[in-house]
Amino acid sequence: MAFFTLKLTDDDIVEMIDQRKLPGKVIYLKLKTYEDVIDAIKKMVVRGAPAIGVSAGFGLYLGAKNIAVKMGVLDSGKNSDGSQCGGDYARGNEKNLARKINSNKTTKTAETIKTINAYNVGYDNHYEEFKIEFLKICDEMFKARPTAVNLEWAIKKMKEIVVAGNDINHIDTNTNTNTNTNTAAVSKIDSIYNDNSKIDNIYNSKAVNKIDSTYSDNSKIDNIYNSKAVNKIDSTYSDNSKIDNIYNSKNDRACDSNKHIINILKRLREESVKIYNEDIEINKKMGKFGASLLNDGSTILTHCNAGALATAGYGTALGVIRAAIEGNKKIKVIADETRPFLQGARLTAWELMSDNIPVTLIADNSAGLLMRKGMIDGVVVGADRIASNGDVANKIGTYQVAVLAKENNIPFYVAAPLSTIDLNIKSGEEIPIEERDGKEVSSVFGKKIAPENVDVLNYAFDITPNKYISAIITEEGIAKSPYNKSIAQLFNNLKK
Ligand code: MRU
Repeated sequence: MAFFTLKLTDDDIVEMIDQRKLPGKVIYLKLKTYEDVIDAIKKMVVRGAPAIGVSAGFGLYLGAKNIAVKMGVLDSGKNSDGSQCGGDYARGNEKNLARKINSNKTTKTAETIKTINAYNVGYDNHYEEFKIEFLKICDEMFKARPTAVNLEWAIKKMKEIVVAGNDINHIDTNTNTNTNTNTAAVSKIDSIYNDNSKIDNIYNSKAVNKIDSTYSDNSKIDNIYNSKAVNKIDSTYSDNSKIDNIYNSKNDRACDSNKHIINILKRLREESVKIYNEDIEINKKMGKFGASLLNDGSTILTHCNAGALATAGYGTALGVIRAAIEGNKKIKVIADETRPFLQGARLTAWELMSDNIPVTLIADNSAGLLMRKGMIDGVVVGADRIASNGDVANKIGTYQVAVLAKENNIPFYVAAPLSTIDLNIKSGEEIPIEERDGKEVSSVFGKKIAPENVDVLNYAFDITPNKYISAIITEEGIAKSPYNKSIAQLFNNLKK
């Protein structure tokens, strides 16, 4: 294939072909932030359900990396054993503070220790901070476009990696080379000074002794309490080596916390690339199943673009056509122009011509005539979301093609990966339909074609009820009516 739809480069840039400019210009944009990716999805630089899902995966990885950079996790630092770790976090400040306490034992230390502990809690919560920021980005990504469920599907996959990181034990043993030798000392201090109830207990036990004349007034109790507290602090921070141990241990914990995040980042990158690679494989598998439904010599109508440009590569509906051709069947394609964004005229025609697949472009309103004339043997389209009963959301205009196909006894096939099937919804009624700017309808390439201020309705998708669908082609096989049963069966096969 002479082009690629999108990819993540080795230096973490998302490159994607600008589909708004095709076929006139072949331009690849370089996106460096998750905001750029969200913008590209909204503006349809990248479009098509699977490609939107893949973009979300890459975008969330970029976003996660940016959070880690902002937190200093990727800066170089050292563990107590001298080995390199991500992030330093100016641990020396804490150490110096602790040494100061040690050199001035009369200092009222309780407050200072509290400050140190608060500081330490901050270190230990790097992961929590990272997770909170990441989940915010997921929410932003989710809002980019509402209909294609692949977006939600990819976000969920990426989220799972970060949320699974709740358990610090998820750190890979090979990356967790540093062991905390001083954890016991640290937790001892934490348990004394982090837990106010313990300090209260000391105070209370002294209060009980108030009957004793020695403890006859509150100021004495306070003195005793303070001196006890200070003694405890002193005995813990009794010498600099102990302080160093504590410092090292805390530092190691901070390093572990950073390594943990770095490890999560690595997994996010791997997952996003996996989503990308698997999408191509899935399309090829789907293509093979779908090709068996197309007769040699047939002419297939398709709507919108469900090709390589709408996926990581190969395509869903166009993947079925590619697979049939690879299987030596002669297939011709009729492409609906697909108003208003013209995915058929601009993208499907360009993509198929680039691959030397015969394609004829028609205006959307020609399909009925061609069907009646016997010029179309089958329809294959993609999907943005499929309900568990087999109702299909796809590009606006799909529904009328499906109705025409049924009327003319022409098989109507939908090709989509399982990630496009939303088992959480019972029927197409529940699928959110995106409404886009009316200007996409009242203008063509920025030129107004309708009266100024005319009211416009621009629904981007419609729902085709399952009764019009002859089969749904997936990577796990072909589902036929009754879809509730056949779709559930495909997911069961997947589990085996
Ligand atoms: O608005 P778009 O271009 O994102 O709509 C695309 C479609 O409707 C496709 O048919 C669908 O996403 C399937 S793509 C394999």
